Amino acid sequence: MHAIISDFSKITPQAFGHHLDRRVPDLLGTVETSKAYRSVFAAEAEPSYITAVVKQVLLEVFSYGPHVTEATFIAIGRYPKQEVKFMEKLALHDVAEANHGEMALVDAIQLGLDEHWARERLITPESFAMGAAVRLIATQLGPFAYLGYMYPFAALTPILTQRLQKVLAAKQFPGHAARFVDYHAVADIGHAASLRKLIEEIVEKYPEANTEIDYAFNIFTCVYPLPIWATCVTRAREELGGQAA
Ligand SMILES: [Fe+2]
Repeated sequence: MHAIISDFSKITPQAFGHHLDRRVPDLLGTVETSKAYRSVFAAEAEPSYITAVVKQVLLEVFSYGPHVTEATFIAIGRYPKQEVKFMEKLALHDVAEANHGEMALVDAIQLGLDEHWARERLITPESFAMGAAVRLIATQLGPFAYLGYMYPFAALTPILTQRLQKVLAAKQFPGHAARFVDYHAVADIGHAASLRKLIEEIVEKYPEANTEIDYAFNIFTCVYPLPIWATCVTRAREELGGQAA
């Protein structure tokens, strides 16, 4: 478990940054012990199972992605209006992410997903909950709180996609359906580093943001990634007719 800090007003921006740094491996540790993670990274996992799970995860990215993009733009739009530099950098990051749900959908279609069905379906309750959480963080908390979901999101993604790349290479996963994974194994390293730096700059100027950023991190871990992965595993197993890894 991460260290509980009860009074964020007493800590420096650097100490808060280090606090966030510690929370990411803590979250990763929780992920690693989950049934969903262990089933995908098990040496004996069947290639058909890996492919089915990845297809479901890509579909979920397509489902919640637009909510994250829109929530984030709302939060940035609420920044103090003298903070144009922060707004510009953070908005550019959000723009860079805006089409990644579509990128995920392209790969899922390569794996056999029906595009029309994907665009028309009611999204899973798990992705709905994730979308609802980020929208409430963006609108109901202070404008900086959203960094508490965006930072772990950006920091976890390259770690998990790099690990997944190794599994895909070993399990005959079709390379033309790995664009999303391959892109995110590299791109989000820079995103996470720049967000981490911006968070320190922001909390230096707005120390009261610490508490809400950490609170948003707590909320985010309730909806991402484990509940979403759990439903992906269930749906993948259903698709395979009950076979599992
Ligand atoms: Fe992305």
